Amino acid sequence: MKSPGIKTSLAAASCLGLAAVASWAAPAKLEVNLGATGPAIPPNFYGLMTEEINYSYDGGLFAELVRNRTFQDPPAGAAGRDSKAAIGVIPPHWSVVGSANATTNRIDPVNAALPVNLRLTLSGGTGGVANNGYWGIPVKPATNYTATFYARGNDGFTGPVTASLLTDAGDRTVVKSETSPLTAAWKKYTLAFTTPAAAPTTAAARFVLSASGTGSIDFSFVSLFPPTYQGVPNGLRPDLMKLLADMRPGFIRLPGGNYVEGSRFADRFAWKKMIGPAEQRPGHQGCWSYRSSDGFGLPEYLLWCKQLGAEPVLALFAGYTLNGDYVAAGSAELDLYTKEALEEIEYVMGPADSEWGKRRAADGFPEPFKLKYVEIGNEDFFDRSGSYEGRFAQMAKAIREKYPQLKIIATTPVTSAKPDLVDDHIYASASTMLREWSRYDVGSGHPEGRKADGIKVFMGEWATQGGSPTPNLMSALADAVFVMGLERNADDVLLECYAPLFANVNAENQAKGHPRGWQWNTNLIGYDALNSFGSPSYHVLALFGQNKGDFVVPVTLDVPQIVKPEDPHPHGLVGVGSYGTQVEYTNLAVTGADGHKLSSGNLIAETGQWQFPNGRWSATDGVLRPPGGSPQTWALAGDPSWTNYSVTLRARKLGGSEGFIVLWHSADGDNYRWWNLGGWGNTVSRCEVSESGGREPYGPSTPFTIETGRWYDLKLEVNGHSVRGYVDGKLVMQATDEPNRPTATAFASAAYVTASGELIVKVVNTADRPLETEIHLANARQVGTGKAIVLAGDPSAVNSLAQPANVAPKEEPLTNAAVSFGRTFPPHSVTLLRFPAKK
Ligand code: AHR
Repeated sequence: MKSPGIKTSLAAASCLGLAAVASWAAPAKLEVNLGATGPAIPPNFYGLMTEEINYSYDGGLFAELVRNRTFQDPPAGAAGRDSKAAIGVIPPHWSVVGSANATTNRIDPVNAALPVNLRLTLSGGTGGVANNGYWGIPVKPATNYTATFYARGNDGFTGPVTASLLTDAGDRTVVKSETSPLTAAWKKYTLAFTTPAAAPTTAAARFVLSASGTGSIDFSFVSLFPPTYQGVPNGLRPDLMKLLADMRPGFIRLPGGNYVEGSRFADRFAWKKMIGPAEQRPGHQGCWSYRSSDGFGLPEYLLWCKQLGAEPVLALFAGYTLNGDYVAAGSAELDLYTKEALEEIEYVMGPADSEWGKRRAADGFPEPFKLKYVEIGNEDFFDRSGSYEGRFAQMAKAIREKYPQLKIIATTPVTSAKPDLVDDHIYASASTMLREWSRYDVGSGHPEGRKADGIKVFMGEWATQGGSPTPNLMSALADAVFVMGLERNADDVLLECYAPLFANVNAENQAKGHPRGWQWNTNLIGYDALNSFGSPSYHVLALFGQNKGDFVVPVTLDVPQIVKPEDPHPHGLVGVGSYGTQVEYTNLAVTGADGHKLSSGNLIAETGQWQFPNGRWSATDGVLRPPGGSPQTWALAGDPSWTNYSVTLRARKLGGSEGFIVLWHSADGDNYRWWNLGGWGNTVSRCEVSESGGREPYGPSTPFTIETGRWYDLKLEVNGHSVRGYVDGKLVMQATDEPNRPTATAFASAAYVTASGELIVKVVNTADRPLETEIHLANARQVGTGKAIVLAGDPSAVNSLAQPANVAPKEEPLTNAAVSFGRTFPPHSVTLLRFPAKK
């Protein structure tokens, strides 16, 4: 079958200038063929991809307000492998209020999952401990809160404990409630309180547990919940759930992503430690630089699916972790992980009287969940040992034997056993994502395109990279085009989900030592403690989710094409970077093409010259070092007009997973070129170009590994679009930017809703001018009026907490729909037309 596609008119392109032209010389022609039926679109085609990244659950969807509720977070700056809670200190996110002292201890804890207590020692007056939440505790007027905590009185303390909400400004108590007198034994207390109608709306507040007198109190597992979605205890945040419900997701891919793997075996998604009562879950170090409370565990994932009416697509841990460790097929360890995977499936879909179905029922879900897809691992193409073939075969065999009805997803093509689907991932710039529109077209010849042997595709992670922490409108246009390309190939691509879904958009607070809330650059939905917003890409996906057809209707779009001219004199700043690695740079000097010095002997010593787009670097004694705990960070200096130059510097790696990064022709933190020496897990030397935050490799990829502790002499020679890199005087890299390949500027697809007899037409115009279009509906009999929904604006426009609806869809009646009708699509727009059309 020939895939419906785009037809472009190159003849038209040749007679067009660029921005000077206000509109096209001739209208575009869009033909929608109602007489032909394209692929059926699966009912759960549109889904969500989720994991604990960017404070997605803790500090996000999971409505818990107390941060570090079990006092097990490692001290600030120490988050990482083997980092443990410190004892005898005030734990992170807690502080002392009034006349008291507070320190952690391990004395006779509530249970083994809660090994650390926080002891408040009173000194005669009133004192307490305060928690500052996830960038603040949100206080709202007339709102119900439920606080729970374990407490016991020591050293003669038998008084009550007061729980209160206190604003930072003026330490004003907004509301408070008191327990009964404490006993010397641990007891769980629950207090419910409602803020007054006159209470402020603010996140600059703390949750305080206080008492008066003498003696001491031990606290454990301190929790505070505001109202949750559908009022479920320990449940989910209503504003985020509303945004998600509006997307009408058919499935939720959970729990990752890297998060299912963990940085190492000890930190994998060990689901058995994430079920049952929350106070029996120990929590674990997540792979995105912070600890997870695991309050949002497997039962909460299922609650989420249930509340949205979405099916879980369950990702199973498959014996490979992000540090490259793996267990081999046939090993006792893989036997165990395979057994655990089967048990996890039973927990999700087994009858309530099965061993693990019983545990699910005890967690509040007697009804088994509908489970159709399971995924074995995540991104196992990173496992260069080749062990995935065996791991996949072993786990797939065991799953097929016990659950023959399940469809099995592999994370990379395998030959040892046949998967039903392969999970494909792509994160790229807008221009690449536009080109990827035909990735799955029949005969596209794309290396990642249609798979042999009828193996289908799960597009399990994808997103246009551009805009941070959430995408800009240009990214949303490319996202719209990409997902339209997936949908019109829905016979091959059965499911899709954008990633990452969530980002806590709180900025870094250096004074408090808090890193920013997000680790991944471009994310669909943003929020802080009080408010949330959908990005332009969110609006695209919600629009498409709400207007899903049953099958594709083929279209052709004949539209002029624009070729972007190349910059003959590429220019910009120089810089250095670090990617999950501790590095030091010194003696950085820049020399012009004619040999004259553009900088002093060590530009690093000129501290005023440097810009830090993501995290402040330190420059002491002429040595530049990245901030601790920042996964990706770079520093820029020089003059934006510099064109051809050479950069020399010395570099040393102190720890971490990769090597050195040297930047050139950088406009800002999102637009640059860089040489990644020891990238891809310290294995490769390669160049990458970033446009609006979307980064892509180019030029040759050469094996290269950086040794820790050794100083290297690096040199970069930049000449127009070409670059050469030297290590210790030896040429190791030579690359030239790929010329701008032409990209079509307008895209269209269509689908049909059988029950209502409506046609849905989607058109994206990525150009900077209106696209006048003649639309013809071939084989249509009866056409009625409908609606048009348009998302348009400046391509760099974003939504934010301050301007949540800066880019938002606008609906208008579509009154001129007919067998042939005209419509002008605005510059930089996504338009969805929906109207009755009978064949
Ligand atoms: O979506 C963010 C990350 O990208 C996922 O955890 C991982 O699978 C991919 O590399």
